[in-house]
Amino acid sequence: MEQNFEALRKEFPVLQRKTYLNSGSYCALANEVRAAFEAYMEDRLLVGANWDVWVTKNESVRKLTATLLNASPDEIAVTASVSAGLNALASALNFTGARNKVVVSDFEFPTNAQIWHAQEPRGARVVHVPRAADGYIPAEMFEKAIDEQTQLVAITHVCFRNGAKLDIPGIVRLARAKGAKVLLDCYQSVGSLDIDVKALDVDFAAGGMLKYLLGTAGIGFLYVRDAFVKSLVPTNSGWFAQENIAAMDITANRPSPTARRFEAGTPAVVNSYAGEAGLKLLLEVGTPAIEKRVYSLTRRCMQRLEEIGWPSITPVQDERRGATVAVPSRDSAQLCAELMKRDIVTSYRDDNARASFHFYNNEDDVEAFIAAMTQLRGKLAP
Ligand SMILES: Cc1ncc(COP(=O)(O)O)c(C=O)c1O
Repeated sequence: MEQNFEALRKEFPVLQRKTYLNSGSYCALANEVRAAFEAYMEDRLLVGANWDVWVTKNESVRKLTATLLNASPDEIAVTASVSAGLNALASALNFTGARNKVVVSDFEFPTNAQIWHAQEPRGARVVHVPRAADGYIPAEMFEKAIDEQTQLVAITHVCFRNGAKLDIPGIVRLARAKGAKVLLDCYQSVGSLDIDVKALDVDFAAGGMLKYLLGTAGIGFLYVRDAFVKSLVPTNSGWFAQENIAAMDITANRPSPTARRFEAGTPAVVNSYAGEAGLKLLLEVGTPAIEKRVYSLTRRCMQRLEEIGWPSITPVQDERRGATVAVPSRDSAQLCAELMKRDIVTSYRDDNARASFHFYNNEDDVEAFIAAMTQLRGKLAP
């Protein structure tokens, strides 16, 4: 079914006031997600203790996330953040044997490097794969780093700094050839690209609901491939990670037989109301249609930037790009501030302003951005 994207824009009030190009930091808030927050408040004010509903909300987030990723609900832990999921996973890995190496790339979000470095006292060796001369990291660059001592290749899908997308199938092939597992940090792609963890053949995937999943901060997920759920026992645990949450047994740790064993304590209840609403809306629109639209908008944005003589540093090829277009500036903070004065919401990392696109953006947003960039070029282009 063809989506009516223009009609969907009306569901995001901020779009009536701003050119919103900031979904890679956090999404525009949909009316339905706001209503979910309000439903939580109603429950708290008028029902008081609503434990049964709370539990169903968290389970609903688990199921919707599984649908989104083409996983089974038993392979999904609902976490408080990507960092919480990665810490639980790291705690279940053993780095004392010969396979003690963790391979990360230069494109990682800090948390997906820091957490692996934090395992060094436990025996982990962290190896970084650098960029090639053109700034990209092709799969071949991983060839030297991934070997028989590699336990885990922990890589981002799309780089938060420059919008570059790694060649996940190519890197997974290299990891498989050496018997290493693969963790995909898909926070910068999930919801904007169509992701199938089975087709990608990754072992773990982590993301959160704040960005393209239309939800909020404080809730995320960790996918753990079925084959590893039972063999990995996190030492980072808690009562919500137990087989029977209601058992209240203080004599032993009895982890859930599902990926819930990677959870910890009381879920962020209000966040699961918002997370559920965001995921439902996203799945109604459908990630294949979203991906197509995002590529068409980023392609157009990059072409227009070329035309005005201020090219982006994001790779041009679709297979090397996600939803973010990064534009270098001699002062990226000032560039974002100037854009904000013109009601254009972007963000910046390093020397680049980042314009990130979702299905609720349109060609007029691209043109508004380009018009502002044309005005600012003399002062702020590199
Ligand atoms: C790619 C990526 N990974 C991880 C994170 C951090 O996630 P969390 O704060 O949920 O731990 C971010 C946040 O921006 C991100 O972009």
